Order: sequence, then C-alpha cells, then structure tokens
Amino acid sequence: MIVPPRADPASGRERAAQVRTIFSEIAHRYDLLNHVLSLNIDRRWRRRAVAALDWERAPGGTYLDACAGTFDLALTLAGRKGFHGRVIGADFALPMLARGRSKIDGHPVGPVCGDTQRLPFRGGSFSGAMVGFGVRNLSDLAAGFRELCRVLEPGGRLVILEFTVPPGRLLRAAYMVYFNHILPRVGRLVSGHPWAYSYLPRSVRDFPGPDALAELLREAGFDSVEWRLVSGGIAAIHVAAKAPGAGAGDPPPES
Ligand SMILES: C[S@@+](CC[C@H](N)C(=O)[O-])C[C@H]1O[C@@H](n2cnc3c(N)ncnc32)[C@H](O)[C@@H]1O
Repeated sequence: MIVPPRADPASGRERAAQVRTIFSEIAHRYDLLNHVLSLNIDRRWRRRAVAALDWERAPGGTYLDACAGTFDLALTLAGRKGFHGRVIGADFALPMLARGRSKIDGHPVGPVCGDTQRLPFRGGSFSGAMVGFGVRNLSDLAAGFRELCRVLEPGGRLVILEFTVPPGRLLRAAYMVYFNHILPRVGRLVSGHPWAYSYLPRSVRDFPGPDALAELLREAGFDSVEWRLVSGGIAAIHVAAKAPGAGAGDPPPES
C-alpha cells in the first residue's frame, strides 16, 4: 500500500526514508516522466553540467555521480569523446539503480548502493563529482556537501545541477503554474503514484536559492564556487573545487 507522507517529517532520518520510498516507488516510470515533464531540456542541462566538470584535466580518472538514479548523468560523462575513465553511480534507492542497470551495460559506469550523506568511499577517491537533481532531496545538505568534498581529490571539482525558481516575474509565474498544477497531475497519471509528483514542487520551493547554496558549499570545504542559471533560471549549475586542506579520511560514523 502507498502511504502518503507527512508534509513535515519529524527528523532527518524520517525525511530520508520518505525520499527513498518515493524514488523506489516511481523508479519504473522515472525516465519517461523525466524527459516528458522537462520537455527533454534535461538532456541539454546534463551536457552543460558535464562540460563544467573539467574532466578533460583527468580523462582517465574515476568520477562520482552521486544520487545517480538511473545513471543519465553518469552516461552523459561516460559517452564524451576522449573520456576513458570510470564513473561510479551511487544512489540509496536500489530500484532506481536496478531500473538503470540495462542502460549502463557496455559503458564504463558502475552502480553502488550508498547514501550521499555517508558515502562508502575513502577520502580523495574521485577526480571529480557531480549530482543531478539530487541535492534537493538530501535531509542534511551540509552533511552531503561535506561528504562530497571528503571523497574528492584535492582540487577536484564538484558540479551540481538542480532546479531553482526563475528570477524573472513572467517566467516564474508560468513556471509556478506548470510546477504546482500541471506537473503533479501528469506525474500522477503516468506514474500511477498518488502523491510523489506533488513532492517535487514542494522540494524545489523549500530549497535554498543559488547564493545560499554557494555559501553552504564554501562552508563544507569548497572554494572557487561559481554558479549560473540555465533556461532562464529553471535550473542552476553550481561548480566548486575542493579547497586545499579540506576534509579527507573515512566516512563519518553512523548516527
Ligand atoms: C530526481 S532523482 C535524480 C536522478 C539522476 N541524478 C538524474 O539526473 O536523473 C534523485 C535521486 O536522488 C536519490 N537520493 C536522494 N537522496 C539520496 C541520498 N541521501 N543518498 C543517495 N541517493 C539519494 C534518489 O533515490 C533519486 O534516485
């Protein structure tokens, strides 16, 4: 039975469990809805995010796609001409990884079931990391950013692609109608899930704006933090580099 979520989960653990449940239950329709609801613009955004990763600096390196879902971002990097490294796609919802499994056959992409707030990797394991439409779902954003910083090599880049609210009045008004009214209805119809696609607008509304997100990245150990809006501000791409002397070592103990 699909149980509707509490609008305001009591704890980070409860929120994480809700998010894992949502993505586990919509995994079978995730790819279809992703491309339909974004009118396929998401493919262009992913290419721009990968271009910002500066993977050409280490084309044979190991890269992390955190909150990888069905691996679309990992595959965008793996398919770049001249790339001969590996991409690890980590997600805590096993049905999302399972759904994307056939897409990564024959590509240098490996699946790992793991929580972005406690990544199962040693410090400094990755030449670069990226997160597509994932950080908005983290119950403790600061902990997630500290983990992403920890697993990067010194100077390694993090790229975040995430929805945001457009600053222009007209586009924002149209976007709000689409996001709050059309998207939840189409999502419900196609996925058959009664409330998962109402979670999306709520999670975007409650998420920090681009400047606040940049500040959180600096506090987590990143420098050279920059961001730009794409498609009039429907989404933003943040780029940051692990600062010299920022955290390494093993994952934090389980809380
Ligand atoms: C909107 S989907 C994005 C998937 C993919 N990155 C993409 O671009 O299509 C968000 C994904 O983040 C995952 N996720 C959310 N919180 C997570 C966490 N704490 N640790 C690992 N994965 C998480 C969900 O399971 C889901 O697969």
